[in-house]
Amino acid sequence: MTTLIAIAGKGGVGKTTFSALLVRALVESGVRPVLAVDADPNANLHLLLGFPPPQPLGTLREDLLAADSGGASKGEVLEAMVQQRVAEGDDVDLVTMGRGEGPGCYCYVNSLLRQSLSRLAGSYRAVVVDNEAGMEHLSRRNLRRIDHLVLVADPTPRGMGAARTIRDLAVQLGIPVGKTWLVRNRPFGKGDRTGVPEGEIPLLGEIPYDPSLPEWERGGRSFLDIPGSSPAAEAVGRSAREMLGGEKR
Ligand SMILES: Nc1ncnc2c1ncn2[C@@H]1O[C@H](COP(=O)(O)OP(=O)(O)OP(=O)(O)O)[C@@H](O)[C@H]1O
Ligand SMILES: [Mg+2]
Repeated sequence: MTTLIAIAGKGGVGKTTFSALLVRALVESGVRPVLAVDADPNANLHLLLGFPPPQPLGTLREDLLAADSGGASKGEVLEAMVQQRVAEGDDVDLVTMGRGEGPGCYCYVNSLLRQSLSRLAGSYRAVVVDNEAGMEHLSRRNLRRIDHLVLVADPTPRGMGAARTIRDLAVQLGIPVGKTWLVRNRPFGKGDRTGVPEGEIPLLGEIPYDPSLPEWERGGRSFLDIPGSSPAAEAVGRSAREMLGGEKR
C-alpha cells in the first residue's frame, strides 16, 4: 500500500525543505522506495535531492499529441513517456510536473496523465508531493486521494491563515484526506514571532531554525545525506514517525 503525502502552504515557509527532509526521514526509517513529486512549476526539489535538472511531465501533453503511436494506445505511449522521465536514484525517484495546463487544456491527455501517475505511484511505499505555494494542484484535483496533507506554516498569522485556507479548500472540494497536519517551521531564526495558536489543525511537529540547511543548499549537497543529528532533520524524523505511527506498515 502506497502512502500519499502532500505538502502545502504559503510561499517561502519551507515546503520544499520539509519535503526533502521527509523523503530523507522515510528512507532512513526503512520506508522505501519513495517517489518524490515536484508539483511546483518553478521546480527546485531536484536541487535538494541531488538530482540533475529534470525533464518535466508538463511537456508530455504536446509530445503525446504529436507522437506516432504505431498502433499502441495513447495510454500506453504516455505510460512509456512518463516512465522515461522518472529520474532514478537508489531509494528515491523523482518526477517533476512542470507547468500546468495552458490555454489549450487537453483534458483527455490530462486524465490519461493522472491515471498513468497513479499507476506509477503504486510501485512505491510512499509518495511525497511538494506543491507550489497556494492551492493550484488541490483546486485542479490533481490528487484524487491524500493520506496525509501536511500544511507547513511559519509562525506568523499569515502563514497560519494560509494553512487554514488550504485545509478548508480540501474539505470544500471533497478531496479524500486521511489526516491533515500542521508543521510549524522557523525559517527565519530567532526573530520569529511565537505564540500563534495552531487552531484546530493537529500539530505534527515544530522544525527549528537550522543554519546547516542554507549552507547545505549553497554547497549543492543532497539533503538525503544530511546527518540525523542536524536539528531540522531530527525534528522531521520525529514528524515522520508520528505521521506513520498510526499506520499499519
Ligand atoms: N528550518 C529552517 N532552518 C533554516 N533555514 C530554513 C528552514 N526552513 C527553510 N529554510 C530556508 O528558507 C528558504 C525557503 O525554504 P523553501 O524553499 O523550502 O520554502 P518553500 O515553501 O518551498 O518556498 P516556495 O513557496 O518558493 O516553494 C530556503 O532558503 C531554506 O533553506
Ligand atoms: Mg518550494
